[in-house]
Amino acid sequence: MPRRISDEMIANICDENDIIDYVSQYVQLKKSGRDYSGLCPFHGEKTPSFHVSQEKQLFHCFGCGASGNLVQFVMRTENLDFIDSLKLLADRAGIIIPDNDDSFSDVNHEKKKRILEMNKYSARFFYNCLKDTSIGEKGQKYFVKRNIPLKTITVYGLGYAPDSRDSLIKHLNEKGFKTDEIVEAGLAVRRDGRIYDKFRDRVMFPIIDVRGNVIGFGGRIMHENKEINGYKIPKYLNSPETLVFDKGKNLFSLNLAKNAKANELILCEGYMDVISVYQAGIKNIVATLGTAITENQAKLMLRYANEILICYDSDEAGTKAALRAIDIISEAGGRSRVIRLKNSKDPDEYINKNGIEKFREAVKKSVPATEFKISLIRNQYDLTNTDGKILFIDEVVNIFTKIKDAVEVDAYITKVAEDTGISRNAILSKYKEKTSKGSYRRIPSKTEYQKKNEQKKQNAIKKNIATGSLLEAEKRLMGLISQSKKLYKSVCDKIQPDEFSTDVYRRLAKAVYDSYQNDISPDPAMLLNMFSGDDISEASAVFYNLEVYSEDEATVRELLYTIKLEKLDIRINSETNAAALAELFAEREKVLEEKNTWEE
Ligand code: CTP
Ligand code: MN
Repeated sequence: MPRRISDEMIANICDENDIIDYVSQYVQLKKSGRDYSGLCPFHGEKTPSFHVSQEKQLFHCFGCGASGNLVQFVMRTENLDFIDSLKLLADRAGIIIPDNDDSFSDVNHEKKKRILEMNKYSARFFYNCLKDTSIGEKGQKYFVKRNIPLKTITVYGLGYAPDSRDSLIKHLNEKGFKTDEIVEAGLAVRRDGRIYDKFRDRVMFPIIDVRGNVIGFGGRIMHENKEINGYKIPKYLNSPETLVFDKGKNLFSLNLAKNAKANELILCEGYMDVISVYQAGIKNIVATLGTAITENQAKLMLRYANEILICYDSDEAGTKAALRAIDIISEAGGRSRVIRLKNSKDPDEYINKNGIEKFREAVKKSVPATEFKISLIRNQYDLTNTDGKILFIDEVVNIFTKIKDAVEVDAYITKVAEDTGISRNAILSKYKEKTSKGSYRRIPSKTEYQKKNEQKKQNAIKKNIATGSLLEAEKRLMGLISQSKKLYKSVCDKIQPDEFSTDVYRRLAKAVYDSYQNDISPDPAMLLNMFSGDDISEASAVFYNLEVYSEDEATVRELLYTIKLEKLDIRINSETNAAALAELFAEREKVLEEKNTWEE
């Protein structure tokens, strides 16, 4: 479901938070002229080139170009997306985002809030039970046995669910929650007409989303018997899916991992794996929630990392799951590598046996997904005989057909040829045969590549042409008109939004024009909310120029002439038809004359 927060609400949230106030948590700001300045939090520097304007509610670094409004500052520092950053700011200002926000608009809004509250109380309850030796001694001993110190227990909010039929139910009843609600939250179960605590006599792992909400729990038994009195009991018990808990859309420990701001995210299978690795100092690690990885989870991870390092159990099930994960991540548009741990069942065991440095080495030695796949196939065949080679090549080529990057395919073909002694040409023709059959995902044909390249070239040319004076003039013009209605009026019928040279400028101009037409003064910080990624800096720089513009009609006229002449020059430079060229020169003369008369 697309989530939207109304512009009015966004404005309200921004009004209630001051950028100076917020940024001061990260940067020691000093007043300098009309702005505040300090050391940029986004790149290392010794002299302050990071500026914050209270008036415009924008930040800008003249060193690294980082730029934007408060929401965008939060996005970068907290590593959150736009909506979540807004929510953080709303919380900070005590604003409740009302029901017209889709994510909260459903009838379930109240219910969700109640479940989250119950989860929070339950997490605290389990945690307190663990710390209370008279109740939680078993849990304490279990964590000691597993090398989990108190510090980690606190970081993860680990707990113990007492061996009791209804101690949590009673606790939540006291907090004002009805038993039906507790069942709906997945914290109690109904059986044979009676109601029980869902988690009993287990150590508890709260599952927390990126916003810090406790959305569910995993609970582990403290012994290795899977059966008691003939009843099978699962080693781990997880919260059922509830209004706030979707196992396919969340990841264990992502709330902590995102703060590591690493390029890679390690993905493993178990809660204990994550905790062991995290407490040893590698924090960019998450786990799925007892189910196979989904595309949603892959996309979620890729929001925080460029590459996923899969570190699954080393048994057959783990290997199969890793293969599946590779494909899901690739379908989600991401890259993955595989970490292999020798002589251990899983990362937790590996670290306890070998220490974190050995684990770091294993991370360094992680292999690209394709290489991992090839090596698995290689183990199945005897490459010393011809039959083995043929079968091996056949399977390997199947893998190649799924690779999107032609250069990568080429590199692997070379490698396999070298390793097997089979000629490159033979492998290549096998590959071509399979791709042309269409039974596998087609890799982009040459012409598609060429098309893409051409497009790229075109864009580069467009950008190049519009460099220097033209862009500078447009930037200054936009800066001026966004600050003065009078100047806007003298410009609006001379240049239209779609006549600006870059996409960012065109969108910005359109918004500025629209704003004035609705009798509203454009608000730079609000306008920036339209942009994301690199576009933010390009747009923000419009409002943030070191130069102080003289805010008068003459400057505006001058800029308009510059724009006109620069554009004519671009056309002249690319025109090859003589007659057309003559016309362009004539036009140029006319504009120059007009300009001179005006200047006199
Ligand atoms: N899992 C689950 N239900 C089970 C078993 C496992 O939900 N009955 C999930 C849990 O999220 C668990 C993960 O699968 O963390 C991996 O399972 P496993 O490898 O069996 O356990 P470990 O994580 O290694 O836990 P431990 O070291 O405590 O045995
Ligand atoms: Mn384990």
